[in-house]
Amino acid sequence: MAKTPKDSYTLLTDIVLPSETNSLNHMFGGELLARMDRAASIAARRHCNEIVVTASVNHVSFDKPIPLDSVVSVSAKVSRAFKTSMEVVIQVWIEHPKEGQKYKANEAIYTFVAVNEQKKPVPVPVLVPETKEEKEYFDAALRRKQLSLVLAGRMKPDDATELKALFS
Ligand SMILES: CC(C)(COP(=O)(O)OP(=O)(O)OC[C@H]1O[C@@H](n2cnc3c(N)ncnc32)[C@H](O)[C@@H]1OP(=O)(O)O)[C@@H](O)C(=O)NCCC(=O)NCCS
Repeated sequence: MAKTPKDSYTLLTDIVLPSETNSLNHMFGGELLARMDRAASIAARRHCNEIVVTASVNHVSFDKPIPLDSVVSVSAKVSRAFKTSMEVVIQVWIEHPKEGQKYKANEAIYTFVAVNEQKKPVPVPVLVPETKEEKEYFDAALRRKQLSLVLAGRMKPDDATELKALFS
């Protein structure tokens, strides 16, 4: 049965503890990557109801530092499903500890693969985007998948039709 991005929507909210910061009292990048991986894996699991593994971290931008004691909300939803893999878009929102205002600090795109108990990839449900933004992520996802496969040495650049179309 087809699913929508809304079906996989996941929100994880937590604060930044002293043990999770660097000497500038900003959150470690690795700590944020782990929180994003957790939220995204739940979203991927909600989409397919199978075991999922992280296949790649396709894009992460650390746009703004996250101060100690901030409230960090990580949202994730599946943006496109392929045969056995799913692209998940993650957004990170921060509530500043003193100023209180909420702002977007980061965005990332991860790829998960559904696998069975024997660790073999298994098919996932089709995803149907609904909103304008979801359709834009959906349309660009094949290009990102091909780029990720080329960088991982799993696809020849000549076969990356979507990437080639960008430059033709
Ligand atoms: C990811 C994994 C399941 C792929 O298994 P595989 O036997 O190589 O399977 P395939 O080549 O058939 O790839 C399966 C799907 O993953 C996609 N994929 C694999 N590597 C990818 C990458 N780097 N970027 C994007 N997609 C990728 C393939 O395109 C394919 O997608 P599709 O079926 O939707 O078209 C396997 O490599 C694995 O288990 N890796 C370790 C995962 C893990 O432990 N993650 C946590 C790290 S701590």
